[in-house]
Formats: sequence, C-alpha cells, structure tokens
Amino acid sequence: MPDDAQELLAAADAVMRRAHAPYSGFKVGAALRGADGAIHVGANVENASYSQTQCAEASAIGAMIAAGETRITAVAIVAERVEHCPPCGGCRQRLSEFADPQTPVFLGRPGSEPQTTTVGELLPLAFEPGALER
Ligand code: THU
Repeated sequence: MPDDAQELLAAADAVMRRAHAPYSGFKVGAALRGADGAIHVGANVENASYSQTQCAEASAIGAMIAAGETRITAVAIVAERVEHCPPCGGCRQRLSEFADPQTPVFLGRPGSEPQTTTVGELLPLAFEPGALER
C-alpha cells in the first residue's frame, strides 16, 4: 500500500472516533491531502433534526478551506461499521469541486489494502463550474 494511502487512512480513522453519530451509530472519518501536502480531516456531525446532518467529507472540506487550501490531491474515507464506505452522491459532488477526476480515493481501514478509486470514477459526467459560464 502506498505510504500516502496509509497515512491518510490513519488520519481518517483517528477522526472517525470523534464523529457525532448518536442517531445512526454510523461513524465516518474523512482525510484530504491538500496540494501543499497537509492533511485536513473531518467526521460526520449528526443532529436531532436529522436532515441537518453533515457528512464527514463535508466536515473535512470545511477544515481544508478554513486552513486556506483549495485543492485536494488524495482522499481517504473510513467507517466504523463497514469495510469500505463509498462517499454519498452529494459528497462526490463536493469532492469534485476541489479535486481532479484523477484524484485517488482510498476506501478502507489503516493497516489493510484499501479499495482505490478516483473522484472521476465516482462521479462521471460531473456538473462542473464551466457549465455556469455564459
Ligand atoms: N455519512 C458520511 O459521513 N459520509 C458519507 O459519504 C455517507 C454517509 C454519514 C452521514 C450519517 O451521519 C451517517 O453516515 C449515516 O448515513
């Protein structure tokens, strides 16, 4: 396994433990490698008003933006209850805003071989900023 994947999975696993998921019991952690090499992490944050839940990927993107980074070069997602946790449809769109189609996405757990995909494989024919130009 590449060191990059291992380091990101470890960061995602660590932050997953801090998830606020009392309603679903489904804890998720996400780690993003920024273009400058730093890692930005986030966990899912649920709410008694269920629809206000924020996914781990959205939390990590918020942390990345707050740190002043705008490009993602690699992603790792870890969930407590499943071996591989593919990002939800909305988070595929969120990730594609800041990543290239070739950006790797590692799904799994630290210490074992992850399922590796890309942002482009997860979201083909993405709706992109160019569509808004006129
Ligand atoms: N969840 C994420 O954090 N990321 C995903 O991509 C899929 C789902 C969270 C949201 C909710 O807190 C829990 O998993 C169950 O849906």
